Amino acid sequence: MRAVAPMSLVALLGGCEPQHDARLASDVSIVGDAVPASLTGAPGDAERGRAIFVSREEGHCVLCHQVEGLDAEFQGNVGPALTGVGGRLSAGQIRYRIIDAQRIWPDTVMPAYYRTHGLRQVEHGYEGAPALSAGQIEDLVAFLEAQAS
Ligand code: HEC
Repeated sequence: MRAVAPMSLVALLGGCEPQHDARLASDVSIVGDAVPASLTGAPGDAERGRAIFVSREEGHCVLCHQVEGLDAEFQGNVGPALTGVGGRLSAGQIRYRIIDAQRIWPDTVMPAYYRTHGLRQVEHGYEGAPALSAGQIEDLVAFLEAQAS
């Protein structure tokens, strides 16, 4: 489990002060295109992350993404396949894409799961709370980080 960004990324962004975004559910330090630190201060659980990824009531990421070998009734392809994503992106980059994909790709259809303000659509009853909790996001990061090939 990598808790910090790889040195190459840190070097690339050398001297960059962490950014903060008041639209997020808590005070998150954004460094370049990554959130290097765990939102809970602890590593997530990959097995719980797998369940959240598939669950219609929770993340339901399979609506748009597939992961090879995943046991799910349906896997969509609106988003890129996430097979091997742990080899392409650091944990911090994966975390930021789940937290706020719309900050990275302004026109994306992927929801900003850890934003409470400036959402395009607010589901009734969800105003003020992010779509996923910090713990759920860490579980998803652990699951996707393990998809290394
Ligand atoms: C409504 C469709 C949709 C849903 C639901 C969705 N995503 Fe995405 N996701 C996308 C799209 C589309 C992209 C690519 C960005 C773009 O071009 O818009 C993306 C990109 C990503 C990336 C970056 C992949 C890469 O190779 O760069 C990650 C990681 C990711 N999504 C994780 C998730 C997780 C985890 C969930 C569930 C909590 C989720 N997504 C839910 C549509 C979705």
